[in-house]
Amino acid sequence: MSDTHADRVDDAFDAWFVGNDPALDRALATSAQAGLPPIAVSATQGKLLHILACMCGAKRVLEVGTLGGYSAIWLARALGPEGRLITLEIDPAHADVARDNLKAAGLAAAAEVRLGAALDSLDALIAAKEPAFDLVFIDADKQNNPAYLRRALTLSHPGTVIIVDNVVRGGAVLDEASGDPNIAGTRAVLEMLATDPRLCATALQTVGHKGYDGFAIAIVT
Ligand code: SAH
Ligand code: DHB
Ligand code: MG
Repeated sequence: MSDTHADRVDDAFDAWFVGNDPALDRALATSAQAGLPPIAVSATQGKLLHILACMCGAKRVLEVGTLGGYSAIWLARALGPEGRLITLEIDPAHADVARDNLKAAGLAAAAEVRLGAALDSLDALIAAKEPAFDLVFIDADKQNNPAYLRRALTLSHPGTVIIVDNVVRGGAVLDEASGDPNIAGTRAVLEMLATDPRLCATALQTVGHKGYDGFAIAIVT
């Protein structure tokens, strides 16, 4: 799978920093078998999510966009014994694969996959007065990213870390006139992250196994 130099560097980083990990390898294998798109975060990106969750001592993590549970495993592993991850997924087949992978990873008690459109699930969490989350990872459909960020802020406390995936998309983020609602959603969420006085945010470009893309990372002040 090594096409570019950046891919070969990621191969080396994967070997050094991640290695074989039966639960993660299983998550990717079962996802491929079930025909899920191969769009989980890369191994080094997953470990970054894990480290960020550890750095903020996260006990409650919210994920928007579960797929086969790959990033959810990385995040849920950062939680202490009392910790909890809620991950939101619209596709029942994806949710089934993810539940199976979280169970096989020994994380069934810590991680809950909620089926439904994430906007509805987020509104339900807000209506239920769910306690604030310590970290939110936004990685579903990009057109709704501004609405996801607004709801994430409602479910946050000062110090909550908010991460948004796929904010570069091969550089398409610069295309102001893009007819692609995913690009428009990404541009709008970046503007919110940059200007909302409740947030201290930045964005980083990435290369390697996920191609040329990037993350935005913010902390609620
Ligand atoms: N975070 C995962 C990848 C998520 S891919 C990982 O890195 O392992 C994006 C996921 O968001 C897909 O499974 C897709 O079905 C889901 N999704 C798309 N639109 C959604 C919506 N409106 N509500 C909830 N989930 C959605
Ligand atoms: C896509 C979505 C993602 O979340 C991602 O990390 C990569 C690609 C996509 O929809 O193509
Ligand atoms: Mg993504």
